[in-house]
Amino acid sequence: MKATLIVKNAAQLVTSVGASETPLAGELQGELTVYENGSVAVDGDKIVAVGTTAEVLERVETGAETRVVDANGQVVLPGLIDPHTHVVFGGSREHELALKLEGVPYLEILARGGGILSSVEATRAAPKEELVACGIKYCLQMLAQGTTTAEAKSGYGLSTEAEIKTLQAVRQVDSAQPVNLVPTFLGAHAVPKEYKGDPDRYLDLVIEEMLPLVVEHNLARYCDVFCEEGVFTVEQSRRVLLAARDMGLELKIHADEIVPLGGAELAAELGAVSADHLLVIGDEGIKRMAEEGVIAVILPGTTFYLREEHYAPARKMIEAGVPVALATDFNPGSSPNNNLQLIINIACLYLRMTPAEVINAITINAAHAVGRGAEIGSLEEGKKADLVIFDAPNYDYLAYRYGTNLVNRVIKNGRLVVEV
Ligand code: NIG
Ligand code: FE
Repeated sequence: MKATLIVKNAAQLVTSVGASETPLAGELQGELTVYENGSVAVDGDKIVAVGTTAEVLERVETGAETRVVDANGQVVLPGLIDPHTHVVFGGSREHELALKLEGVPYLEILARGGGILSSVEATRAAPKEELVACGIKYCLQMLAQGTTTAEAKSGYGLSTEAEIKTLQAVRQVDSAQPVNLVPTFLGAHAVPKEYKGDPDRYLDLVIEEMLPLVVEHNLARYCDVFCEEGVFTVEQSRRVLLAARDMGLELKIHADEIVPLGGAELAAELGAVSADHLLVIGDEGIKRMAEEGVIAVILPGTTFYLREEHYAPARKMIEAGVPVALATDFNPGSSPNNNLQLIINIACLYLRMTPAEVINAITINAAHAVGRGAEIGSLEEGKKADLVIFDAPNYDYLAYRYGTNLVNRVIKNGRLVVEV
């Protein structure tokens, strides 16, 4: 068979196998297939063969048009997938660091009109071109660190015009650079100042005006809501999500991050694809998510950056059979980090996940969390040729080193897009 690209001689080629239909949960969360001295062959944008170097080279024909990349002594993984980001926003919030160090709590900064609301002002004021230019810059940083697909939320507009502008910017960023973005409408991210004290009236606007436009112009696949004390209650979250589901969107929830309101149970009740954050999830929430197959998207970089004492109970969730994915939550306030490699370290050290569990959480399970498990997230025949070569002798090394970008090359849709 013909190949346009061969990546050969990987010390380890690491992937899940056979999990394209359903995410990995329980004991399977940590199950990986490792080809020692592995290779992968690609034709166009698709993988056509995976296995040991000897097997792959025997199966494929190479010609003058075949590009051969030698991954000698390095590790090859599927392109990393970041299933929770807020990558399009205006401005930045380094000025909040001082407040944070004085001990002002995150929700208190928001209640004073800062936090998310300060990014809302900057996002509303920014012309769309500026949002697009920043979004491209952030995506290229992600790509250089091994991320080939990411979810991208709106939620710093909080007016019809600025929410639509944000989602249009997401679409433009998606087509302007290699990282694929899966768009999520998060109009219910906070109550904007014009509606202060009247969240229900703001939700009328979200439901009656924003959602129909988002759906009409096909601007989002998912609808999300920030279900949190002082933001939206479970009842209000249910209302937005039910309306979105009726209009054909799939669902995600920022759930049980700071105060345990029952967002995880709501995700299970509504058949959400994922519930995200989950620092303070209770036993009932865990049980319900496992029963309904809701993916837990855990964001330990945010826990680290908010200096919360307790991380999400990842081990409990895995033991209960909840499929776990991990993401950066890249945003201007609670997580100004867009590097999934750092999430590998934090997840191992503070969630006590094994390197194998973490790799599945940022590849195949993350693919399922953005609805693309059938096309990406593993190195298997027929899947998109998205892969990363890391300057590491084995995959444990990725969890051991931290703070250095270990990416050597990134291949997206069969094309070499990053070469160090
Ligand atoms: O996912 N939790 C709510 N939203 C974001 C933070 C937004 C911000 O602080 O700007 C999050 O952590
Ligand atoms: Fe978030």
